[in-house]
Amino acid sequence: MSRLYNKHIIVAISGGIAAYKSAELVRLLKTAGAQVEVVMTRGATEFITPLTLQALSGNPVHQHLLDPEAEAGMGHIQLARWADAILVAPCTAQVMARLAQGQADDLLGTLCLATTAPILLAPAMNQAMWADQATQTNANTLTTRGLKLLGPADGEQACGDVGPGRMLEPSELVAGLAQTFASHRLQGRKLVITAGPTREAIDPVRYLSNHSSGKMGYAIAQAAVEAGAKVHLISGPTKLATPQDLTCTQVNSATEMLAASQQACADADIFIASAAVADYRPAQVAEEKMKKTAADAGMTLQLVQNPDVLATIAQQYPALTCVGFAAETEKLLEHAQAKLHRKQVAMIIANDVSDTSIGFNSDDNQVHLVTAHGTETLPRLSKTQLARQLIDRISQLEQ
Ligand code: CTP
Repeated sequence: MSRLYNKHIIVAISGGIAAYKSAELVRLLKTAGAQVEVVMTRGATEFITPLTLQALSGNPVHQHLLDPEAEAGMGHIQLARWADAILVAPCTAQVMARLAQGQADDLLGTLCLATTAPILLAPAMNQAMWADQATQTNANTLTTRGLKLLGPADGEQACGDVGPGRMLEPSELVAGLAQTFASHRLQGRKLVITAGPTREAIDPVRYLSNHSSGKMGYAIAQAAVEAGAKVHLISGPTKLATPQDLTCTQVNSATEMLAASQQACADADIFIASAAVADYRPAQVAEEKMKKTAADAGMTLQLVQNPDVLATIAQQYPALTCVGFAAETEKLLEHAQAKLHRKQVAMIIANDVSDTSIGFNSDDNQVHLVTAHGTETLPRLSKTQLARQLIDRISQLEQ
């Protein structure tokens, strides 16, 4: 289930008897490590209480289109952006009809229109309703538009009928959802990625560092695993849990990061430098804890430049597809293009760190992809969604 680890999943529950199974669905998603927000239609609350879903998801349930508690009444747009996937379970015949028409008169309909994330539907209805031409036409319209149907299953129904229309079991829905995050784009490729900050020791208890959380690099590593790559993550100190199914080497300083990268890249195909490497380190590391001197005496630290991990790797392994980041506060594209040439890499992912709503510690990011062929601007996305897009674009660099 590791594919769902840390994924932002919206479980949208509509008004059908299978809604009682959605409680188990939410529980299983949480067990798989997903972050879950629950949306309920008015009909759904007739079958199961929001309190149950709140307790299981750990978050208040969203029921209204214009949520006065959400900033500027735009909670639905924030939710739509936050989602890595939306799973409508159960999805009634009526909700299918409304989604097929693109109706946006409630929270569920609006979210499905406003999101760029994959939408999965778990149909649940009487077998005759499922078989009806109107429902079948709606199902076709929705799948043609890229929505994915999970089920329905065949069998005995709550109303006593037997036939296709039952909602899949929660465990089957979780497996189907996890499948959405798998691709084979990087099957058989080895990818090395640096992430997080570096720490440059001053003495045994102090260091120079920066605010990098490592979230972007870890999300890319996870997306690369999902795309079938063999991944080696070289991480500076972060508070993040190590993703599963990859090799992780923990380092502290830029020098350690370079040594680990040089070793890992010897048989790699792609190198992505997402780490916020300290440009300088103290010229000398004091062996003992440094003591304060007289109250009025200042202190001067002499710094020397660190190796550039990305540029060194790109030079040492010319056949490797190298990708770097450029975090800038001004002249974003100009600096990014300069870095592309200076470091001799295939792509620079540029982001504006002067905007505090994206970048370093935020969950969202918005970037521009600069290559020798031009610049592509991606929309603002959650780091997980962005990571998947980046892996998609980076896999195309190799072709
Ligand atoms: N980088 C690196 N080693 C360094 C410095 C940077 O590998 N010592 C990598 C980063 O991981 C990133 C890219 O180079 O992918 C650009 O990093 P950035 O800090 O934006 O640029 P710098 O090269 O440090 O240039 P400047 O500080 O002048 O902006």
